[in-house]
Amino acid sequence: MPHPVHILPAINALADALRNYISAYTQIAVLVDENTQQHCYPLLREHLPAHHLIQIKSGEEQKHLGTCQHIWQCLTDWGFDRKGLLINLGGGVIGDMGGFCAATYKRGIAFLQLPTTLLAQVDASVGGKLGIDFMGYKNHIGVFQDPLAVLVYPAFINTLSDRELRSGFAEIIKHCLIRDKNKWLEIAHRPLKDQHFSDLIAHSIDIKKAVVEEDPTEKGLRKILNFGHTIGHAIETHFLGKENRLLHGEAIAVGMIAENYLAAKRGWISIDECESIAQHIMRLFGKVALSEDDIAQSLPHALQDKKNEKGAIQASLLGAVGNCGYNHAIALSEIEEALQWYAALPSA
Ligand code: GLY
Repeated sequence: MPHPVHILPAINALADALRNYISAYTQIAVLVDENTQQHCYPLLREHLPAHHLIQIKSGEEQKHLGTCQHIWQCLTDWGFDRKGLLINLGGGVIGDMGGFCAATYKRGIAFLQLPTTLLAQVDASVGGKLGIDFMGYKNHIGVFQDPLAVLVYPAFINTLSDRELRSGFAEIIKHCLIRDKNKWLEIAHRPLKDQHFSDLIAHSIDIKKAVVEEDPTEKGLRKILNFGHTIGHAIETHFLGKENRLLHGEAIAVGMIAENYLAAKRGWISIDECESIAQHIMRLFGKVALSEDDIAQSLPHALQDKKNEKGAIQASLLGAVGNCGYNHAIALSEIEEALQWYAALPSA
């Protein structure tokens, strides 16, 4: 792995790791939102030397250039030089945007990722993808840059709402479906409250680490981590800013089901497997009501997917349960067909 990832089961272990990494830095800022300031920062404050706090509002809608300007301005006002360190204490938005600001401030200062949501612990914080949303498109502007380290304290997920926890669980499901069929079969029948999260966090990080080690900048293999995301991001983007907006994992749940339909259509997984996975996912996530208009308005967003090449939509589809391929060209009409199939499924 280009950067270390430490899973720290106790707060003292987290504090020790933190002390170890920050000892070389004299200027330290911690980036929080109102949730992590209230629930997570108090656990760390006493273990940190003198530092500044940068507060931003929580939510995907804050992940834009205006918020970056605020972060860069704080660092500038406090006279941060290239020996400064930014600690990103939060979920995917804080990690992606804080990392992006650190990677670009004075051409790059060090940053530590302290993911506090399940989604960030099992996916977003690991692998050095940083960025912000632009013109309504997810992570449209960004860079690859490794953090100093990712420090994962699984107990932070106890501060999450059930909906946030479930959203992160979608990425755990993704990791099982692309790389570990047995684990999928183990978790598929279990209700969310009975899942063994510490074990699953470590399992997901192992899978992600192995893939990112082989392909850190997504030239090929890393695209499998985007299974469910071609259609999922299109749906997520469509609902952004609407009253019934979806959390990332909720959109990815739809994306995985719909993209499996395309794998089944190609004969790579059976229709039974496709329907069984759909039922298990929908039992957890429910079914998103998609009207014909929702489907029609989501389609153009798939044209902005970062995996596309020469204008063609390239998806990562299961070759079998537990095995994923990438660079599979799919037509817009197929996405439409897959979403219509999803919309017609019986609720679980
Ligand atoms: N979340 C997908 C990746 O990091 O590549």
